[in-house]
Formats: sequence, structure tokens, C-alpha cells
Amino acid sequence: MDYSVARLCCVLFGLTVVGLVGLPQVVLGRRSCNFPAIYNFGDSNSDTGGISAAFASLHPPNGETFFGHPSGRFCDGRLIIDFIAEELKLPRLSAYLDSLGMNFRHGANFATGGSSILPGGYSPFDLGIQMSQFIQFKSRTSALYAQLTPDESIPPFKSFLPRPKDFSKALYTFDIGQNDLAYGFQHTTIEQVRLSIPNILSQLFQAVHQLYKEGARVFWVHNTGPIGCLPYNIIYDRSKPGNLDQNGCVKPQNEVAQEFNRQLKEKVLQLRAGLPAAAFTYVDVYSAKYALISSAKNEGFVDPFEFCCGSYYGYHIDCGKKAIINGTVYGNPCHNPSMHISWDGIHYSDSANLWIATRILNGSFSDPPVSIGDSC
Ligand SMILES: *[C@@H]1O[C@H](CO)[C@@H](O)[C@H](O)[C@H]1NC(C)=O
Ligand SMILES: *[C@@H]1O[C@H](CO)[C@@H](O)[C@H](O)[C@H]1NC(C)=O
Repeated sequence: MDYSVARLCCVLFGLTVVGLVGLPQVVLGRRSCNFPAIYNFGDSNSDTGGISAAFASLHPPNGETFFGHPSGRFCDGRLIIDFIAEELKLPRLSAYLDSLGMNFRHGANFATGGSSILPGGYSPFDLGIQMSQFIQFKSRTSALYAQLTPDESIPPFKSFLPRPKDFSKALYTFDIGQNDLAYGFQHTTIEQVRLSIPNILSQLFQAVHQLYKEGARVFWVHNTGPIGCLPYNIIYDRSKPGNLDQNGCVKPQNEVAQEFNRQLKEKVLQLRAGLPAAAFTYVDVYSAKYALISSAKNEGFVDPFEFCCGSYYGYHIDCGKKAIINGTVYGNPCHNPSMHISWDGIHYSDSANLWIATRILNGSFSDPPVSIGDSC
């Protein structure tokens, strides 16, 4: 019996099959796929420490709201991927590239800041590299797992390794593509970016097929956010007449993001049809983020384009750095990060991520409309 049959049972009887044929044990009445692990692929929107481990650590006040110190996240606190782990009752994901303090028993995070789907963007760790990292991770940890004595061994290396049988039961999450658009906007024209979308998405399509060949069966795919609503982009693009929409976001950029999402959804439908033994959930993160931005005041946030940390006004100062220019200090962080949607002009704050996660994880922005715990 495979997952498609299991899902059929879910649909028919509203409950999942119990372990007779090696399916995960599921408690009746508790809607849950019981994912033993999460494997995530993406960019800074879901990087929990990869780029920071690979290159240089982030500076305070990154991490100040939740972790109390920089945690490798471009944020004052948690990312949507952290809320996903919380929702699935799993520990926060260690970054694959982090060699210190990691625990991969319940998954690994291959996302790194700056990553794009296609190679040749801001980061060396494009999706193709993240795939080969995953494949290497899977084969090496499986070999190690087979060699090592039980979890009780000292040192307990084995308990930090994934169980090989869990790879086929894990949840595979994607949040990537924003940097393909951003890099395109920076180096080519809007029209060229639009024309490059099919090529970008065919790479993503291939990556999913590769994972499927490795045994992955459950996929949770975030679409790309309203990139034209990022303060960074508004600051650089607002001067062009007619460029902003009624909410103040850069319209041509958002239109390209929406076109990307339209084609992404088509690809997900194709994948679903071509790989019936797998489950695919397409998640409209764009609409959740846009809803937050357009109702910022009602939701208790300040102006959605005011960001907390860093500066792009005249002087580009990264969050965590300061500059004194003619006696004026630039780059002081705000005092109320939880009232800001944007943490640093590009990345969302802990409280914005919580707001978005609360809405997307219960399935209200998903196709099919299932919660993440039921997405198998
Ligand atoms: C600093 O102030 C001087 C004198 O007012 C001015 O000429 C100069 O452009 C200022 N420098 C910057 C970087 O703003
Ligand atoms: C999901 O959660 C949001 C926010 O709490 C709520 O407004 C919405 O109705 C929920 N949707 C579902 C399908 O449970």
C-alpha cells in the first residue's frame, strides 16, 4: 500500500490507516500525518543558520525578540519554518551547513540566504546545490546510521542522525524563487524576468522529481511573496511614475511575482497528476503576506513600509551595523520590532511571520485546503 491509497482512505473515512502495512502509526481522531522529519529548501525566508555558518555570523539585534542573540536568521526572532516545526511538534531545524550543535534526527534545513532556483544569482547554494547536498546527506547519514551502535552509545552520535526509514515519511518544504526574481529585476528588465519564469520553474520541477526518486512523498510548496511590497524595493522603485499600487507596493514587480505563482501552481498540478503516489500542497503565501500589508493598521502594526533595522535611505546600512555621518547615527534599530511587519527592509519580523504562519498552516491559503498536519 502506498500513500495514494492511504490518502484515499483518509478521504473516504475521515481517518488514517493504522500501522498494518508499515504506514506511520496515527492516533484515531487526531488529525495528523505524524511527520517524523522536515526537509526544507529555500532562501533567507527560511534559512535557520546556513549562510551564517558558511560565511559570517549575523550581528545583533538579529534574534533579539525571541532567541536573545543572533540565531543565523535574518529576523528578530522566528521564521515561518520555525512555526511549521512548532505546529508539527518537531524541534527547530538545524542548518545542514552548520557543523556545531546540530541535530538532524527530525530533519535538516538546506535553505540559505540569497539562494535562487537557477544557478548564478546572489548565492552559490542554488536549488541544484541544495539537492546534491540533500542526496549526500541522505546517503551519508544512512551509511553512518547502519554502522553506529544504538542511540545509547557514548557519544550519542546516532541520536543526532535521521532514521533512514523516516526519509519517505518526512515533509518536504519549499520556499524559493524570490531571489530569481530579485536578481532578474536588478540585472535585466521586468519583461526579461517574466520570460525567464518557465525556465526557473522547470528547474524546480526537476528538483521535486529528484526528491521523489529519493523517496520523498509529501511536499508543501510556498509560492513567492509580494516582492514589490518589500520596503527595500519600494525605496528604489517608487520614483518611477505610476509604479505603485493602491497599497503602495511596486506594481510591475508584484505582477511578475503573481505570474510566477500562476505558473508555479500549474507546475504543482502537473506534478500531482504525474506523481499520484505523492501529495502536493500549494500554499498561497503571496496572498497571506499581501493581506497583512494591506491591513497592517487594523492588525496592530505600524506603517507596513517602515522597517525596524538597518537603513536604505541614502546610506545602505545592514541591520546590525551603524554609521555616523556628519554626527548623525544611522542604523539604530527601532524599539518596538513586534509592531513592524518588516524587520530589515527585506525580511519579515517575528510577529509578522507568526501572523502569516497562523493563517497559512491551517490550510486557509492552501490547495487543497488542508492544514499542514493533514497534508499527507
Ligand atoms: C557633511 O556635511 C558637510 C557640511 O555640511 C557636507 O558638505 C557633506 O556633504 C556632508 N556629508 C555627508 C556624507 O552627508
Ligand atoms: C485559520 O486561521 C485563521 C486565523 O486564526 C482564521 O481566520 C481562519 O478562519 C482559519 N481557517 C481555517 C480553515 O481553519
